[in-house]
Amino acid sequence: MTKIAAFNWKLKPTSLKDAQATIRSHKKYAKQYPTVQVVSAPPMPFVHKLISDTTPLSLSAQDMSTKLDGAHTGQSSVAMLREVGCSHVIVGHSERRAEFGETSRMVSEKALLAIEQGLTPVICFGEDERDSQGRYIDLLTEQLTTSLSLVPEKHASKVVLAYEPIWAIGTGATITTDDLFSTLILIKKILVDIYGDRRAKKIKILYGGSVKDYNADELAAVPGVSGFLVGGASHKPEMVKAIIASLS
Ligand code: PGA
Repeated sequence: MTKIAAFNWKLKPTSLKDAQATIRSHKKYAKQYPTVQVVSAPPMPFVHKLISDTTPLSLSAQDMSTKLDGAHTGQSSVAMLREVGCSHVIVGHSERRAEFGETSRMVSEKALLAIEQGLTPVICFGEDERDSQGRYIDLLTEQLTTSLSLVPEKHASKVVLAYEPIWAIGTGATITTDDLFSTLILIKKILVDIYGDRRAKKIKILYGGSVKDYNADELAAVPGVSGFLVGGASHKPEMVKAIIASLS
């Protein structure tokens, strides 16, 4: 399975010049490590200026509308994203869930629409805390099951999952390799329950949450990790390099 290094730029940078620097570093290290699929998700307003510059990257959006067209101010449809060259779209990022009230049901609608339009949805989910009673297990199960509820078996292999514990996003706190391993087993079990063993095995699971140059190697070595979804480090070339290299 080809591993994926996905870079979520979020609402950064402010200038086109800095955006060009970020895409250059993604492109440079994607070329240097051709066995890794590098997915880059810039803010949409920059895309037309970066587009001719994306090879050998896969271009991603950070979100999409649940609607295909119509009177929905401020939205981008998946068909539009495809038109500008996106092959991937991040859906259900915890920041979208928290700031814009996105529900797992909406995430599932987006995932299905993306697949139908030929894009790969990167479906994010993750617990806000790892409580000792294990409530996070029920939460993860519910989030994942509902986020996949509209994706039929025949399309299961077309989704990419991104397990991102919220407490690790942007905080510098990373999950231990043991906890990541046991969570990946839980996720795989949920996937087997939904799609059966054969289909579940084909679904890639990325880890996200403070992936940096100093922890990428040990996280990449955890069995079952198919890659990373990276936020803050996306704009730091030396970190981009180390993270892509860890997956090669
Ligand atoms: P982080 O963000 O790498 O800055 O923790 C990850 C994410 O939000 O996808």
